[in-house]
Amino acid sequence: MGASDKTKAVHTGESFGKAWYINPMHPPIWLSNTFGADSPERFAELCYWYGRVSNPNFTVLEKKYAALHDGKYALSFSTGMAAISSLFFSLLGNNTHVIAGQPLYCGTYDLLTRILPKMFKKFRVSFVKETEQSPKFLRGLIRRSTALMYFSSPANPTMPIFDIKLWADIAAKARIPLAVDNTFATPINQKPLDWGASVAVESLTKFSGDDGTRFGGIAVSDDRELTERLHYLRTHLGCTLDAEAAWHIAKSVRTLPTRIAAHNKNTAIIAEYLLSCPKIKRVLYPGNPRSSGYPVAKTQMSGFGSMLAFEINGGHRKLRRFAKRLVKAFGPLCVSLGSSNTIISPVYSSVYKDLPRSETKAMGITTGLFRVSVGLEDPHDLCKQFGDALR
Ligand SMILES: Cc1ncc(COP(=O)(O)O)c(C=O)c1O
Repeated sequence: MGASDKTKAVHTGESFGKAWYINPMHPPIWLSNTFGADSPERFAELCYWYGRVSNPNFTVLEKKYAALHDGKYALSFSTGMAAISSLFFSLLGNNTHVIAGQPLYCGTYDLLTRILPKMFKKFRVSFVKETEQSPKFLRGLIRRSTALMYFSSPANPTMPIFDIKLWADIAAKARIPLAVDNTFATPINQKPLDWGASVAVESLTKFSGDDGTRFGGIAVSDDRELTERLHYLRTHLGCTLDAEAAWHIAKSVRTLPTRIAAHNKNTAIIAEYLLSCPKIKRVLYPGNPRSSGYPVAKTQMSGFGSMLAFEINGGHRKLRRFAKRLVKAFGPLCVSLGSSNTIISPVYSSVYKDLPRSETKAMGITTGLFRVSVGLEDPHDLCKQFGDALR
């Protein structure tokens, strides 16, 4: 049996063999834009020659992520959206079709429904809800033009669970790649490649982003050709990380398993508390045994993560009063997730606000929906803060 995630997260990727003439506890930050050869002939042998193409700090981070995902290749990007859009550009074009789990992070949703249809002729997307994901339904959606199956699980923002093995088996039979946005789970709670997915993409801005201070993205797969295509796109689109961000993110990954274990524990306590509050209409949390996604989540996840959403009853006035109390108890409402502090996002009025009502409704997003990224504070303090807001 190989090393555990805790060991891999600390040690993988940090040895550069002969390049290390001293042995620092952390790798240096290679801030140079360019790396040279001492003869034209040796130029072709260089691993690193221009920082937009690659940099040793990317390699440290990419090796850690490949190891944590049980994957062969990992490629870092400047943001999660850079990883996702590069993946889409590498696989999609005119007359292609995508089968996608609904809902999706709004940036990914806009790419699929607004940006790509403008760029590509006859570009189509079929959306699948958690309740629709039967083999028969999924097989029925496949067309000759289907070039990608894609979902995130748990999915942003209403937390449905998509069955990776079910989709992966169908995708493999039809020779279609399945990509999973694993941002909410992280490789500590879920390893999509182990369940048959072709690619896992993640926003590293979240749990690995050095406590909410860095942006980054990653794509992990066993497919060398796809990774090379992604590398080509990353280089030419210029959506590369910078060395300093890569260094900070890699350092943050060292403690990822330990932090995720604490996030998982805290979130279970908060979810139980919110489920007991009569003013709350519904709590969306994959670790709730009564939730529809629970049986699949329990199978494919080793922890239920730090994300949940809840909805409160009431009209505009009541909502406004509640939001004011939330701010008083927790500080400003924000987007993003995965930091040491708890983050509460007003879903409807923040990132999804520009979408037509019919589309947010199809995603289950209501005006009273709040998303919570549970932090590392004492969970009993957090329950008290929620209690104050819900008084
Ligand atoms: C599930 C999910 N995927 C992708 C992204 C995009 O990540 P980034 O902001 O790093 O581009 C986000 C951002 O919030 C997200 O929540």
